[in-house]
Amino acid sequence: MSLDALLADRYSVRAFRPDPVPADVIRRILATAQQSASWCNTQPWDVVITENPAATDRLRAVFLQATASGQPHPDWPWPEQYVGVHNERRRKCGFDLYNAVGIERDDRDGRMKQALRNYELFDAPHCMLVFCHESLGFYGGVDCGLFLQAFMLAAWEQGVHSIAQAALAAYPDPIRAHVGFPPEKRLLFGCSFGYADESHPANLFRTERADGPAEALFLND
Ligand SMILES: Cc1cc2nc3c(=O)[nH]c(=O)nc-3n(C[C@H](O)[C@H](O)[C@H](O)COP(=O)(O)O)c2cc1C
Repeated sequence: MSLDALLADRYSVRAFRPDPVPADVIRRILATAQQSASWCNTQPWDVVITENPAATDRLRAVFLQATASGQPHPDWPWPEQYVGVHNERRRKCGFDLYNAVGIERDDRDGRMKQALRNYELFDAPHCMLVFCHESLGFYGGVDCGLFLQAFMLAAWEQGVHSIAQAALAAYPDPIRAHVGFPPEKRLLFGCSFGYADESHPANLFRTERADGPAEALFLND
């Protein structure tokens, strides 16, 4: 697939079939994503993958226990509020998801249950967690974002679907304890992956994009 086609085709999958991805395919995707650019070629992404679905189940249990036991306390603070066009886009993609799965606007319980689906890993057979050493700060996070994009596109090209999840960075301490990482490795995000349940309502809506060239400021003098 061309890059154009991959970017147009990919979407965030929020319901997966249980079938595992063969280990050699996971490794091929990781090898491709590793080619991402990074500042000074630090390649700072510290990646944890649940290769065996049983390991995904254990990770899922840690997430679900964490959500039941406290408030989110991500290593890197989440936005406190979204304003202007950012808020409009955020609300639209949220409401489009709720509409797709039949959650009414005033159904708080329904929205909470849908948010919890993040920690059920949308039933995916695999999950990737991406950490970065705290010394690399903001730009380490940028590098890890480039890796994430490459991972999702390389996966899509192999017929493997995924979703980036900042939600999985909400409870870093129990996750670090589970994977045996020290506190200086900061959790940035997760990415559940596998094969889409294409008929699931959560997978039937698509987001839109602004017109990139129209949004850009071109300087010619
Ligand atoms: C860094 C990052 C974090 C995200 N975190 C979440 C998340 O926690 N839960 C979720 O359902 N979607 C999450 N998303 C998916 C976005 O909502 C999605 O990419 C966006 O709405 C565009 O839709 P598309 O991916 O289907 O094109 C995240 C995406 C990115 C890039």
